[in-house]
Amino acid sequence: MSGPNTNYDPVEVTPLTAESVQAMVDAALASFAAAETLADLKSARIAHAGDRSPLALANREIGALPPAARKDAGARVGKARGEIQQALAAREAEVGAAELERALVEERVDVTVPVDVAPIGAVHPITALMDVLGDVFVSMGWEIAEGPEAEAAWLNFDALNIGPDHPARGTTDTLFVGDVENNIVLRTHTSPVQARSMLDRPLPIYVVCPGKVYRADEFDATHVPVFHQIEGLVVDKGISMAHLVGTLQHLAKVMFGDIEIRIRPNYFPFTEPSAELDLECFVCHGASVNDPANPCRTCSSEGWIEWGGCGVVNPRVLTACGIDAEVYSGFAFGMGVERSLMFRNNAADMRDMVEGDVRFSRSLVGGAR
Ligand code: DAH
Repeated sequence: MSGPNTNYDPVEVTPLTAESVQAMVDAALASFAAAETLADLKSARIAHAGDRSPLALANREIGALPPAARKDAGARVGKARGEIQQALAAREAEVGAAELERALVEERVDVTVPVDVAPIGAVHPITALMDVLGDVFVSMGWEIAEGPEAEAAWLNFDALNIGPDHPARGTTDTLFVGDVENNIVLRTHTSPVQARSMLDRPLPIYVVCPGKVYRADEFDATHVPVFHQIEGLVVDKGISMAHLVGTLQHLAKVMFGDIEIRIRPNYFPFTEPSAELDLECFVCHGASVNDPANPCRTCSSEGWIEWGGCGVVNPRVLTACGIDAEVYSGFAFGMGVERSLMFRNNAADMRDMVEGDVRFSRSLVGGAR
């Protein structure tokens, strides 16, 4: 800033001449007019109306003028400032409105576009597979039978020739509903539906029962305490083990394609004779058995994997359920649905089947169907 003009010389202070002030106003107005956004306008305001703008600096020079000239210069600068402020406010209103207009167009939300308010889930692969299994039998004329999950101990055990001292009846294996003396258990297998079917249905009987079962078991990759089985039961005249094998061969073919099954002797109290049902290993098809250099993890190089249990219905079970074992005979089988899903869809970890992640269901459901 220039020092005070003490000797009253008619000093001309250039920035305060009418032309200079007009030039500043013109520059400011041009700059405001050129601003397209509020951000541009802010820079223009700082440059032309801010504390360090040419006009603000010129204003400080007023004191350096001879007193006679100050009034004039003051009025000129004041008027210029007024003009600039007005132009600024007007342009701000224009640019602000244009920006709002642009935002309304660019950020437009179409509220009529349909959205997933409740995303659609997926059929659980176990449910889907139970449907497939059920269909295999329904298409052969069998019926679907159901029973309760909280079951009478008599039907879960005694009617199936599993005596009171059988180790599976203990609390370490079986989940009881209330006191053990209530004799109500969460069914440990779907086999009580065999007994229910024999007690309730007219002969002959051709039923399958898919459903939930419970065991006091670990929760890991190959065990879950709540899982699913499918049980089959036939009671008719002249039924033999051959009918059982033919039925299981058909089931295995539909489920797994061209694959062998094998039955090998075992013991179940409710079937006599009883057998374990094995599937040919669907990974190595038995090749690993005689090829120690290429072991198979799926079947532990045995060539077969265990799928379920089966047998000819024990005459004691027929009798317990009021069927004449001299006239009728039958076969039964039962297998785990989770295990079947593992084999069929390469689902390695059973925990995925209970954790409820819809992505798991979606990834398998197509294959399970
Ligand atoms: N209930 C048996 C289990 O849970 C499986 C089973 C074996 C079912 C033999 C049957 C059968 O119908 O005949 O391990």
